[in-house]
Amino acid sequence: MTDYPIFPFVVDYKPQLGSKTDYGIGIIGTGGIVQYAHLPAYKKAGFRVVACHDLNDETAKKVAADHGIGRAYETLDDLLADDAVEIVDIAVPPWAQREIVEKAAAAKKHMLCQKPLADTFEDAVRIVEAGRAAGVKQAVNQQMRWDAGIRASRNLIAQGYIGQPTDAQIQVSVATPWHMWPWLAAVPKLEVMFHSLHYIDAMRFLFGDPEWVTSRHARYPKQGAVKGETKTITVLDYADGLQALVSVNHYNEWAEPFATFRFIGTEGAIDGTIGLMYNYPTGRPDTLEITSAKFGRGVKVTPTLDEMWIPDAFVGTMASLMRAIETDSEPEDNSTVDNLNSLRVVHAAYQSVVENRSVRPAEVG
Ligand SMILES: NC(=O)c1ccc[n+]([C@@H]2O[C@H](COP(=O)([O-])OP(=O)(O)OC[C@H]3O[C@@H](n4cnc5c(N)ncnc54)[C@H](O)[C@@H]3O)[C@@H](O)[C@H]2O)c1
Repeated sequence: MTDYPIFPFVVDYKPQLGSKTDYGIGIIGTGGIVQYAHLPAYKKAGFRVVACHDLNDETAKKVAADHGIGRAYETLDDLLADDAVEIVDIAVPPWAQREIVEKAAAAKKHMLCQKPLADTFEDAVRIVEAGRAAGVKQAVNQQMRWDAGIRASRNLIAQGYIGQPTDAQIQVSVATPWHMWPWLAAVPKLEVMFHSLHYIDAMRFLFGDPEWVTSRHARYPKQGAVKGETKTITVLDYADGLQALVSVNHYNEWAEPFATFRFIGTEGAIDGTIGLMYNYPTGRPDTLEITSAKFGRGVKVTPTLDEMWIPDAFVGTMASLMRAIETDSEPEDNSTVDNLNSLRVVHAAYQSVVENRSVRPAEVG
């Protein structure tokens, strides 16, 4: 096979900004992900963070000082009372999100919620209802949809480069730095709820809703106090015969780590790597290889992707919310109402394990 450095072949994967990008952002929860992903992304995009708040006031003040954020509020109510805050950007553990959303909705703030929206499907539905009832725009930070390799794949598939998709795989085998999220050790539903959710959502972004979900979960013998499942295999069956596999092992302590995606169709294939997962959260750019009947057999096109899941994809989720506000429309690609269907697949995966059977996402909720 020939490696083509390539006749200028352009894949489109960059986020689309609206014409108004100076909405005042108020951040709620100034922990790890905000510091190493949200704030660097917003700085790069020129977004305007005007205030922040965290239950831990010291953290909020330090983050405000480090990142030039004008106000660090001691209470949520104070942040919500600030008219300069037009969008709240929530980044707290999922069980704390619903109460914040309901207060933010009452204060008529637009909002970018963290994923997972909630740890129960019922709370996720309540979150969506609160946004709807208040008439505010509500998006979710399910940002793998803006990861360069995934967004490029979506555009290539839409342009017919692989024909009809028949086989999709996302496979990850790494040593995850669990110490970054000490609170995750106690959650009973871990891997699919907090991590494979990204891959499941990416599959839905690329291929739509599956008919059936089949999942198997396991723990690693040496995972100690970490309570939930850490090795999972989930299969999504589609009505047209497409089969999608999400296979993740967070305790690969010996073999070469890998994080790959492969989308094969009747007319071509896309092979890539998820750069972030090779050294989270530093990562490296994704890679992409395309073979297609459009190029002819024996040609492999390997465009260079120069953006990273962290921080660049975090521009996409906020930019989408801003465009929705500007155009008074639903956020494109990350509305919370669409995200409920990704959560349906997640909960179907857990039901599949408990009941030892394949589950239809429609059975959830
Ligand atoms: N989108 C992604 O790719 C991604 C990546 C990592 C984490 N996350 C999600 O982001 C959220 C935060 O994760 P993290 O890694 O930053 O965790 P973290 O523990 O580093 O930070 C969480 C922060 O939230 C604060 N907090 C908790 N409850 C609060 C409340 N009720 N009001 C205000 N502040 C509160 C804590 O004091 C802490 O500072 C989680 O929901 C996690 O699932 C998403």
